[in-house]
Parts: sequence; C-alpha cells; structure tokens
Amino acid sequence: MKFSLKDIISIKDFTIKDINYILKESEKMEPVARSQELNQDMLGKILGMMFFEPSTRTRLSFETAMKRLSGSVVGFDQPSCSSTTKGESLADTARMLASYSDTIVLRHNLEGAARYIADIVDVPVINAGDGAGQHPTQTLLDLYTMKRVFGKIKNLNVAIMGDLKYGRTVHSLSHALAMFGTNMNFVSPKELRMPPEIIHDLNQQGVVASETENIYDILDEVDIIYVTRIQKERFLDYEDYLKIKGAYILNEEMLRGKDLIVMHPLPRVDEISIDLDYTKYEQYFQQAFNGVPVRMALLEVLIKKNKL
Ligand code: CP
Repeated sequence: MKFSLKDIISIKDFTIKDINYILKESEKMEPVARSQELNQDMLGKILGMMFFEPSTRTRLSFETAMKRLSGSVVGFDQPSCSSTTKGESLADTARMLASYSDTIVLRHNLEGAARYIADIVDVPVINAGDGAGQHPTQTLLDLYTMKRVFGKIKNLNVAIMGDLKYGRTVHSLSHALAMFGTNMNFVSPKELRMPPEIIHDLNQQGVVASETENIYDILDEVDIIYVTRIQKERFLDYEDYLKIKGAYILNEEMLRGKDLIVMHPLPRVDEISIDLDYTKYEQYFQQAFNGVPVRMALLEVLIKKNKL
C-alpha cells in the first residue's frame, strides 16, 4: 500500500486505512525499537528538528526512532540558540532546515504553524504539536497503545479527563476515536470543556460524547481513562489556572476493583497519583515508549516507502 499523505499535520487528514497501516508497520518496528534487531533503512538520511516549545518524549522518541533506523538528526530545541532570535522568519528557518534534511519535525506554539511550513518546503513535515491545535503522532501512539492492550479500538469505552479545552493531544485523539466508532466520555471542569467546534466535528462524524464534571459518573463503564494535564502555559490569566489546578487527581483507591487502564500523554503534574505507577492500571509509561516504534514507522513511510 502506498501511504496517502506527504505530511503529518492533523489526524483529520488520515483515513482509517492510513492509521491501520501505520499501526501495523509500528508493530514490525518493535524489535528494532527495543534494540533486538539492527535496521539500516535510514542510513544516510537526516531528520531535521525544530522545537520552539519544550518537549521530552516527542523530541527524544523521534531522535531515538531515527537513530534506531541508522539515520542522523540535526536541529534545535532551544530557539534562543537559532537565528530566529536575530529576526529570521519561521518560513526561512524551515527552508534552511529542509535543504539540510529529508524530513522536518516541528513543534510550535502557534496553531497552524506546521501546515504553514508544509506548504513552503518540499520535504515531508511532521507536526509535533502546534499550540492548542493538534498532535497527530501522539494520537497514533495512543491508538497503538489501545490496540496492543485490547486488540481493538472500535467499541472501547474511553473517558477523556482533564484540560479538554487546551489539550492538543485530546483534540487529535477524539477525532481519531470518532473515526473508529469508539464511545467517548468527556470529563472536565466546565471552564475546560472540549471546544464546541470539536464537539460539532464529532457530531458530524455521528458521534455523541457524554460530558460530565464528575469522573465517578462513568467510572464503572469505561475501559480506559485518558488523563491530561491542565495546560498552565495556555491560560491567558494565571489566576484562572490557580482556580482549577488540582481539580482532578486520580489515585489507586478510586480505581480499586475496576477493570480499566490509565493512559496519559505525559508530562503529568499531579493529576495521576504516583501510587498508580506500580499497579495493573498504569499504561502511561509503556504508552510513552510506544512513541518509538510508531515514529519509526512514520519515518519509514514518509522518507522511504512513500518514494518507491
Ligand atoms: N506527550 C508529549 O508531547 O510529551 P512532550 O511534551 O514531553 O513531548
């Protein structure tokens, strides 16, 4: 199968076939991701990284993915060390990196930044998070995690809890889950509800997600609780953040006897108590590792297979 996308900008650009293809290819990458097999598919290829916002998992798992495939990585994670501080535009910076590399990974605070540079450069562009917009590679690894645990995505019952207004991971994820016909329950304080335009999109896809402020309303029904951090950096008024901070904290006692898993894109602040870390519920660390095989599969299809 030839993968239909040149760039990875929004999960909404994917068909179910595209997603399933990446999930299958990711599985094949597991032994290489775990350093049990050698793979030289990216020998001589270079991944270009531009991170205008902090990252641990996305940046390091992309680097790991490229290096496990024997490729190299260039770029910056401190924009203050790039010539953007001299006034160089994002467009010119992207043009430069495109001429030095085979694919660009961009994280930026502005929604739409990845789409903007994808229209300018010829190499594939991967959106590693654009403001409160989308985080499509996170969604792919989230779906991969669900599939690994449950053997399916369709017909799962998922609670998505936390900052649904600013959390880009849950924006991407809810679109993808709607494609698979997954049942969704949104749990958030009223100030941080899922944006109406996303609810509208989901309704157009034939999905009606329940909404509540109380996790106990749906705790007995769900297979997965997908927790997100309150996105402090996106609040316009810090006082508003302080009012909501710590509104939801999941702990072992709350889940005792339940048959479910807990996922989180990480980083966590205080929304998952550490007493859950060594229980059967924890999937968030495995989920973070899954970013490696999934991003390896994406690099393969974008840089190699797509060109065949
Ligand atoms: N999940 C995620 O995007 O983590 P980082 O911000 O550490 O990359």
